[in-house]
Amino acid sequence: MLTVALPKGRLGEKVYSILHKAGYTCDEMSSDTRKLVLENKEVGIRYLLVKPTDVPVYVERGAADVGIAGKDVLVETGANVYELMDLGFGKCRMAVAAKKDYVENRDRTLRVATKFVNIATSHFAKQGRAIDIIQLHGSIELAPIVGLSDVIVDIVESGSTLRENNLVVIEEFMPISARFFANISSYKFKEDEIEKMLLCLKEAIND
Ligand code: PRP
Repeated sequence: MLTVALPKGRLGEKVYSILHKAGYTCDEMSSDTRKLVLENKEVGIRYLLVKPTDVPVYVERGAADVGIAGKDVLVETGANVYELMDLGFGKCRMAVAAKKDYVENRDRTLRVATKFVNIATSHFAKQGRAIDIIQLHGSIELAPIVGLSDVIVDIVESGSTLRENNLVVIEEFMPISARFFANISSYKFKEDEIEKMLLCLKEAIND
């Protein structure tokens, strides 16, 4: 039996449809289910439905053998897991963005609003820029509009959230897509099962 940590939400629907195509079906799976553990004993699969940012935590600590999450979440959590495959969907970029008329003042500490505290900190540290991090959990684009921050660090997919809020990208610095990864000991003890899933996923994606 393989336990898979699946991200709930937008990415999760794409992920499950690929797993379904790859043969890892589960009758209990539906977008409105409130169940958090779903199983199909016949194909030897158990899904844990978790918040996208928590997927690496479940996998790193071995509560799940494998998981799928965006590269952004993997980098932000710094989880020690085996990254096995780039699934090639869920593509977006990590970007620094600000109001259209924003002019940087290098004499002042830059106020950065973000959900990605570690990614933003390391990005500006590489540039030797002192920053004041303002951690938010959603609607990040609001921060510069109301003067809470100078810039934001956030993911940009279609760009419509930025456009509709009169913000522009200043810099893009990390291409993102969904990744399949495994717990390090699970990979040793369940290598055959995990490699089989990897192969089925590759076939389902290339099909
Ligand atoms: C994400 C991200 C941006 C938006 C980018 O937010 O934080 O706000 O998507 O997508 P776009 O470029 O296609 O507009 P999400 O929808 O996850 O909601 P949140 O504001 O609650 O984080």
